[in-house]
Amino acid sequence: MLHDSELEENALLLLKNYGIITTFVIQFKYFMTNITVIGSGTMGNGIAHTFAQYGFEVALVDLSQESLSRAIQTITGNLDRQVKKGAIDEQLKKSTLSKIKTYTDLKTAAANADLVVEAATENPEIKLDLFKQLSDICKEGSILASNTSSISITQIASVTKNPGNVIGMHFMNPVPVMKLVEVIRGYATTDEVTNTIMNLAKQLDKVPVEVNDYPGFVANRILMPMINEAVYALYEGVAGVEEIDTVMKSGMAHPMGPLQLADFIGLDVCLAILNVLYKGFGNQKYAPCPLLVNMVTAGHSGVKSGKGFYIYSGSGNKELVVSSKFNRNKSATI
Ligand SMILES: NC(=O)c1ccc[n+]([C@@H]2O[C@H](COP(=O)([O-])OP(=O)(O)OC[C@H]3O[C@@H](n4cnc5c(N)ncnc54)[C@H](O)[C@@H]3O)[C@@H](O)[C@H]2O)c1
Repeated sequence: MLHDSELEENALLLLKNYGIITTFVIQFKYFMTNITVIGSGTMGNGIAHTFAQYGFEVALVDLSQESLSRAIQTITGNLDRQVKKGAIDEQLKKSTLSKIKTYTDLKTAAANADLVVEAATENPEIKLDLFKQLSDICKEGSILASNTSSISITQIASVTKNPGNVIGMHFMNPVPVMKLVEVIRGYATTDEVTNTIMNLAKQLDKVPVEVNDYPGFVANRILMPMINEAVYALYEGVAGVEEIDTVMKSGMAHPMGPLQLADFIGLDVCLAILNVLYKGFGNQKYAPCPLLVNMVTAGHSGVKSGKGFYIYSGSGNKELVVSSKFNRNKSATI
């Protein structure tokens, strides 16, 4: 006579053989309700917003209550914009906000997480320390994802107890708008975890693309050398800020020039990614332009600091004004 567990196993085997149940088993094993998002900056608030909008319970964590309050303010403003455009209604705005709870204590925020999406500052020490803690805090079977733009998922996974459950979930900025999610398999990431995250991204109405874990993955390996080259062109006096951006917008049909895009991403983030590419491949072609290094050192890190290649008043004015450091007495409209 077969025991219950044997019967169950045989039934599963039968259904698997007929290809019926694989997806269901994966979905069931990793049924997701509680998502913890670490870091409430540019990316973290967008990731929290998106998960909450699609019905997940979100715990948003940052180091200070001020950062969290700023994030909720940003999310509210972005939801208002979606309502104004008719993309969502007032009811969905309210339910989205009600699904986001804020925390400064990682343990409380992550203990019950089915999935953690880490979007803290792009610094290997910070991320390794966070994942080491998460490995102890989270329940068995939780998936630990990083939104890192460039740090090795394999390295991040190596400090955890279960590297198979660690994966890259690289959203694009602004998260509620951009469709791509680069899903990065670390060396040890399992098929199950990869499939779960691919399916989850589709549930968020995103377009997931699976890539392997090498410096810069795909998006930034191609994007960052272009941005760096644009900064070099400015540094060498080939052309001004607006001229460089106009060539790429009007000539290559890019919606935004590379210098404006760099401001938008954050010049500190761009520099950090270039350094990862430079170190990871040991190739001079990825060496960050000295002008980019100087701007970051001086705190001119783009939109978030109010100044970069352009200046940003924060008044919502659409007029794009070139920083006086590069001013040729011109301004453009976005
Ligand atoms: N900015 C972009 O366009 C972009 C795009 C894709 C991916 N990313 C990646 O997303 C991540 C976040 O980038 P960002 O631009 O949102 O940075 P950000 O500087 O805007 O925000 C980072 C936040 O993390 C918080 N933080 C730092 N250490 C923490 C800790 N130990 N615990 C909790 N919170 C902590 C900071 O207080 C800050 O609020 C980075 O890994 C970056 O590479 C950025």
